[in-house]
Amino acid sequence: MSTAVQDPGLEPSVLRVSALTKRYGGHSSWLSRLTSGPSVSLKALDGIDLHLRPGEILALVGESGSGKSTLAKILVGSATPTSGAVSVAGQPAPARRDKESSRRVQMVFQDPYSSLNPRITVGKMLSELLLLHRIVPRSEVRAESVRLLNLVGLEEDVLGAYPSQFSGGQRQRLAIARALAVRPDVLIADEPVSALDVSVQATILELFATLRSELGLSILFIAHNLAVVQHLADRVAVMYLGRIVEVAETSALFSAPRHPYTRALIDSIPRMTETSVNDGFELDGEPPSPYDVPAGCRFHPRCPLASEICRENDPPLLTIGPAHSSACLKADELAAIPVPNAPQERA
Ligand SMILES: Nc1ncnc2c1ncn2[C@@H]1O[C@H](COP(=O)(O)OP(=O)(O)OP(=O)(O)O)[C@@H](O)[C@H]1O
Ligand code: SF4
Ligand SMILES: [Mg+2]
Repeated sequence: MSTAVQDPGLEPSVLRVSALTKRYGGHSSWLSRLTSGPSVSLKALDGIDLHLRPGEILALVGESGSGKSTLAKILVGSATPTSGAVSVAGQPAPARRDKESSRRVQMVFQDPYSSLNPRITVGKMLSELLLLHRIVPRSEVRAESVRLLNLVGLEEDVLGAYPSQFSGGQRQRLAIARALAVRPDVLIADEPVSALDVSVQATILELFATLRSELGLSILFIAHNLAVVQHLADRVAVMYLGRIVEVAETSALFSAPRHPYTRALIDSIPRMTETSVNDGFELDGEPPSPYDVPAGCRFHPRCPLASEICRENDPPLLTIGPAHSSACLKADELAAIPVPNAPQERA
């Protein structure tokens, strides 16, 4: 389903953002600058470069407030960036998305109930979309709706049901079917399992893996913690206070993290064997306010490796190995500190 596009000089991508920033607040016009007091603005995204390869599952992980949903909203066109560029299938995405560019990138939300219209049946929800986007002729709408339901593990008999008649996991399946109805290239899933029971979470994660392999779908999967994506994602991007601080293939990220924040997130994953994971990389306290981002490396107030150089220099995200980037001035020093109880690599 994904459209592989070769950007000149760049890796093929279905979705790419460059130097993306998003500010909230502050003065919006010269008049408000003149008539109001000092401007206070929050930088939710502060220079994001990221791309999604065709057919991959890329996880985006970070604590609450790091900017994950803001990035997701910009990618689907429901928020506009303050600066920077977004391209979909190699083409610059219009500031106001047209029908075709919004069709290509679909979103699945954390709360499946509030994302579904409670007043229409499943059949009506799907048929409206299929007809609006001219996906199939009217005579084939029912068959296509059943195909979509089967794809997400539901049966034909739910066509006449309303969202309130489903469990949380089933509602998330419906939300995924709705997103797939318009045959997108990319699915953005913003914490799609966080609101579900643990037992149901695994079945929905399996569904995402199946959709990727059966449809070749590219998926940006957003999560709070690394444990959720360890066995699902091909690559992981770690976000901290509006920046990507590390990107790597999943196995490399878990076995040899090259940013202390990633290392702390890995150490916080509960293990079956509880032998000393307390190696000084635990995360203390909350992240600093995005209204007042620390000077130098923004992670320095919480970093066990921080020194003077970190308080004075703001490290960019640099390539440090094959498909591995880190925004840490001491990425090499960290590499020499082995990860205790490194989670097992994927088979
Ligand atoms: N519409 C808005 N107006 C002002 N500030 C906002 C708005 N939306 C988000 N923010 C702020 O931007 C920052 C990033 O928020 P965002 O929702 O993107 O984070 P997140 O990583 O998705 O968090 P969570 O894990 O809690 O969903 C936060 O400080 C948040 O308070
Ligand atoms: S640059 Fe310094 S403070 Fe920032 S993550 Fe690396 S070691 Fe820690
Ligand atoms: Mg969010």
